[in-house]
Amino acid sequence: MRFKTLDDLGDITGKVVLVRVDLNLPMQDCAVTDLTRVHASAPTILELADKGAKVLLLAHFGRPKGERVSTQSLSMVVGAVQGVLGREVMFVPEIAGPVVAQSIGILRAGDIAILENTRFWKGEEKNDPELAKAIAANADLYVNDAFSAAHRAHATTEGLAHVLPAYAGRSMEAELKALEAALGNPARPVAAVVGGAKVSSKLDVLKHLVTQVDHLIIGGGMANTFLAARGIDVGKSLCEHDLAATAEEIMDAADASGCTVHLPYEVVVSKEFAANPPSLRVCNVHEVAADEMILDVGASAVEALADVLKTCRTLVWNGPMGAFETVPFDAATVALAKTAAALTREGSLVSVAGGGDTVSALNHAGVAGDFTYISTAGGAFLEWMEGRELPGVKALEG
Ligand code: 3PG
Repeated sequence: MRFKTLDDLGDITGKVVLVRVDLNLPMQDCAVTDLTRVHASAPTILELADKGAKVLLLAHFGRPKGERVSTQSLSMVVGAVQGVLGREVMFVPEIAGPVVAQSIGILRAGDIAILENTRFWKGEEKNDPELAKAIAANADLYVNDAFSAAHRAHATTEGLAHVLPAYAGRSMEAELKALEAALGNPARPVAAVVGGAKVSSKLDVLKHLVTQVDHLIIGGGMANTFLAARGIDVGKSLCEHDLAATAEEIMDAADASGCTVHLPYEVVVSKEFAANPPSLRVCNVHEVAADEMILDVGASAVEALADVLKTCRTLVWNGPMGAFETVPFDAATVALAKTAAALTREGSLVSVAGGGDTVSALNHAGVAGDFTYISTAGGAFLEWMEGRELPGVKALEG
């Protein structure tokens, strides 16, 4: 890896360290509903504080578009962050200038503060070098621990790395190492599982993956578009018929690169989309009736996919195999995730998953803890799967 980590820091006692974290936390009724991202950055924050730095947390919250919006103030998450860190955290309603300087004067070595939502300032999303300089003026060092915001070239995710000595935090470091093991220089054969509703949202992911992996397993609603492109009647299933030609191009590109595309040959269908519907049946993919929709992959097809995984050394997973929020259409996702988890536990598979619904699907399967690495990033994970360079990561590489 070509970036510096916290291991490269010298004595930081009394130094002011800006730490870019992701505090874009889900909220309901003014309460944070998921603390995963705070837990992810806690080791970095505590390590810096314990080494005697004055730690200033920088983060965005929602999309206030350069305006101060009281409901998107980071003061809303201070209590949640204190709870996870087990330390008192000061809130500073600015990100640069004299108020921040005065607050730093009050902080003692080892203290932690959260600065205001960076997106209250227009220069943040414009990656304005003047804003980066103004923020940097109060600090000595910059640590980026927000992989999930690294696809944004903003002043606090990218610009600051050019004006202060820049380091990857522990969570960023772990994420980049896991991603390198998954697609950068993976043990082969490599399988990718890509599911979810729509092909259109993951076209670039699929186009890139067929050039990188040995097996591409397509599930979820997006498999229907590929089946239809192969001339299969998918009945009332969710299907982007207008993308048939694109789906064919992806399958041709896979053939040209020696990547085997696996589509379901047996499916779970129903006339209505509801939990345990009376019309539910399992059939060959060629037997879907005009008034039925495909809602999951059938059990024997999942077993065949499990056999594919058993031949692989590396797995990258994004998206569920079926309509997993509704029972029993979670069965294929759960079964395949359990196979991946068992192979990972045995040590024969490196498994990396991330993006959107994936974490909740794997949590639902009860196997999230058994995967080699689960990324909490949404958009950043998808952009990485598209083979794109993430500006926040690139800037750390100097
Ligand atoms: C996220 O929640 O995925 C990141 O914090 C990025 O947020 P954004 O999509 O608003 O840039």
